[in-house]
Amino acid sequence: MKKIQISPSILSADFSQLGNEIKRLEEAGADMIHVDVMDGHFVPNLTIGPPVIKALKKNSSILFDVHLMISPVHKYIEDYADAGADIITIHPEATEDLKLSINKIKDLKKKVGISLNPKTQIDGIMEYLSEIDLVLIMSVNPGFGGQKFMPEVLDKVKKLKRLQVEKNLDFEIEIDGGINFDNSKKAIEAGANILVSGTTIFKSNNGDIKKKY
Ligand code: DX5
Ligand code: ZN
Repeated sequence: MKKIQISPSILSADFSQLGNEIKRLEEAGADMIHVDVMDGHFVPNLTIGPPVIKALKKNSSILFDVHLMISPVHKYIEDYADAGADIITIHPEATEDLKLSINKIKDLKKKVGISLNPKTQIDGIMEYLSEIDLVLIMSVNPGFGGQKFMPEVLDKVKKLKRLQVEKNLDFEIEIDGGINFDNSKKAIEAGANILVSGTTIFKSNNGDIKKKY
């Protein structure tokens, strides 16, 4: 049984206090920090890029779980690796050659994740499951925090978990979007072992986040 980990999304944090917010999350027991990078092209929102990530990473030791909602993504992978990303997760739709992008992230000695939007099925990434460290199942359409959890993605989590066990693979199953203290239990039961949460965590004033999940 994989350890259940929490990866709070700083998309819902106070952007004028990002460094302090990350410190508070570390103290509250977060296992990693989920950094949502958006380019206003792949998704209709714009957030932060490598310079900010580099500045934040300088003052923190926690793992940076960087979710790249940018396209084209391949040519920017190295910038995020250099900025301090520990896990680099990309969307298959954002690269012309998923295998090349996966290998690029691995060559940079970073963990590699693939993110599946609610409508994107597992079939398209089956051949890569043995080569990646993480699958990020989106339970909202990417672009914004504070959206409603889409329970239909739980079937996809269950299917992915079955595949992981059948093929004896070791990738993490991360779920991202609208996670709260109720649906997190259903997500864990379905097979997710890393929970991303932004609004819920920041709304709960960043209490001891571990206990509530
Ligand atoms: C959405 C992001 C998610 C989101 C999570 O595109 O990938 O990480 O910010 O935030 P909540 O928990 O508010 O849905
Ligand atoms: Zn995300």
